[in-house]
Amino acid sequence: MRRKLAAGNWKMNGLAASLSELDALTTAHADPKVDILICPPAPLISAAVVQAADHPLAIGGQDCHSAASGAHTGDISADMLRDAGASHVIVGHSERRTDHGETDDDVRAKTRAALEAGLIAVLCIGETLEEREAANTLEIIAGQLAGSVPDLVTAENLVIAYEPVWAIGTGKVPTLNQIGEVHDFIRTKLIQRFGDGVGNSMRILYGGSVKGSNAADIFAVSNVDGALVGGASLKAEDFSPIVSALESA
Ligand code: PGA
Repeated sequence: MRRKLAAGNWKMNGLAASLSELDALTTAHADPKVDILICPPAPLISAAVVQAADHPLAIGGQDCHSAASGAHTGDISADMLRDAGASHVIVGHSERRTDHGETDDDVRAKTRAALEAGLIAVLCIGETLEEREAANTLEIIAGQLAGSVPDLVTAENLVIAYEPVWAIGTGKVPTLNQIGEVHDFIRTKLIQRFGDGVGNSMRILYGGSVKGSNAADIFAVSNVDGALVGGASLKAEDFSPIVSALESA
């Protein structure tokens, strides 16, 4: 009932030449059974949208400002992403929270701006290694959900991505039980806050060192509705097996 989503986050990687990866991806998945999203760096969004025009591949931004416009040098508004043809935006990625000091309040404001612009927000939450080792994971997740997710969301305009900070780009992946525990917990929290309908229909992605070799196992975990993939999304030959694993999950 929840449509699965394979999302790629290119982060600060990729030049115009990298857009050929999109052709390889759309050719390999001409009629995908899952949603596929690529979030390239902002300068590539327009060209990526044109390149993917004949395919259901969605293109998204990696961040947006909380204001619609104004004196914010170097920032990008949600309207600008939409205008460039993006349909999604990642908000609250741990690299934004760490590198740019983004708080839950900031992430909530950005999410609101994204939804007002008509974008689908992919909102990231996740604990640090220190927090996990102190057995605070569920408390941190509950706090981030309460603080980052605005009230007026639907299952169509918001996707949650659970990304343990210590699993991002490290090759370390939580056990399947650990992933399941957090995803089940997020599902329960969403149902408590938004009711059965929205809470059960909202997608929850796992992110952090997902690759072709571990994707099928992760996708078999309950309440995992797809993945947010960094490193392994840069090359179609790495991302395609993840998409295929999700299609057969
Ligand atoms: P990774 O990044 O797949 O390279 O670990 C995941 C992410 O940051 O979304």
